[in-house]
Amino acid sequence: MANESAGERDVEREFKVDELFFSTTDTKGIILYGNEVFTRIAGYEFSELVGKPHNIIRHSDVPRCVFKLVWDYLEAGKTVSGYVKNKAKDGSYYWVLAILMPCRDGYLSIRLKPSSELFTTVQGVYKSLLELENNLEASGASRKDAIAASTDKLLEVLTSVGFADYDEFMTTALVAEMKARDELSLVVAHGSKATSGKLKELYDKCHNLDEQLALLCDKVSAYYPINNDIIEKAGSILETADSVREMSLGALNLVGIQEKGGNGEVGGRNVDMTKRTRILKKYLNEIMFAVQASKLKVEMTKFFINEVAGGGAGNEKDLQHNIDLLVESCASSSKDISANFQRYILRIQIALQAFE
Ligand SMILES: Cc1cc2nc3c(=O)[nH]c(=O)nc-3n(C[C@H](O)[C@H](O)[C@H](O)COP(=O)(O)O)c2cc1C
Repeated sequence: MANESAGERDVEREFKVDELFFSTTDTKGIILYGNEVFTRIAGYEFSELVGKPHNIIRHSDVPRCVFKLVWDYLEAGKTVSGYVKNKAKDGSYYWVLAILMPCRDGYLSIRLKPSSELFTTVQGVYKSLLELENNLEASGASRKDAIAASTDKLLEVLTSVGFADYDEFMTTALVAEMKARDELSLVVAHGSKATSGKLKELYDKCHNLDEQLALLCDKVSAYYPINNDIIEKAGSILETADSVREMSLGALNLVGIQEKGGNGEVGGRNVDMTKRTRILKKYLNEIMFAVQASKLKVEMTKFFINEVAGGGAGNEKDLQHNIDLLVESCASSSKDISANFQRYILRIQIALQAFE
């Protein structure tokens, strides 16, 4: 339902699935820059957005706990992804999957149009979280307590459908949205709009990186069955260990010997192994998230280079500064991927030793 008192209208603002947009803010969330697509979809002039708090496009349908979560990640120096419904200047709405991260100016948010099945489910979850927050506040709870309760509820819903935590959910969401976007095959290979010079050179470099990241995505995807295999094997080792323990207790019982010391050594070891396999999956998700985030950043950079080649939003200094900022962000991603990969390999080695 559109909240008319907040100037909202139940009309969707269209944009294309192959469009990408971004904005940057200072550390307080004051908008410093937004690309052409961002200002067009939000329905504002560039000058009306720069210098304004980012909640200028806040839509009342987004539960407060989502923003609390986003800010908690950012302030901890981490990248985060989430679905956000926004309000354009004319009151119409548009949904995005945003990926937000620290950058040299403060924070950077890159957005794409969500189209996966997961997105449909999330809209329903947001409705119930919002209802919870509003009901609690209406019955006298403080805003802080209402947000805490809806955050708990969000995590409860996520775990009830099999996600270990928000990290695992956001990785799944990012992977699903990038895939859905690719599959719609509306993502036409645009090619460079810059035909020569520095912009064209940069575009080509980004394009190469984009292709390498696409290959890496496929390779990392192929690890999931291997990872599951290890987890499954761990499960079967646990089952066997339990059977062995039961059998040996039964055998001891035969000759009248009672079990000593409750849980045997095997039980203790089981817990340890389950924990290890969970960590293994967590690290794999971290690599996947870093790879997909990196791919999105590179795609955003290519898209922005084309915007700049066609004029772009802001003055020349703004444009150059933001190209540099995106490029810098792409470069720092590779460090994340490599660090996460090292940690994963180490865990695999530890896990394999545990099975020996
Ligand atoms: C880089 C960055 C981008 C953001 N983008 C959005 C956005 O697109 N829409 C939005 O509602 N809030 C966005 N926010 C969060 C807002 O700053 C704010 O927390 C949110 O709108 C909630 O506002 P409220 O506390 O007034 O309810 C962004 C924050 C940052 C740091």
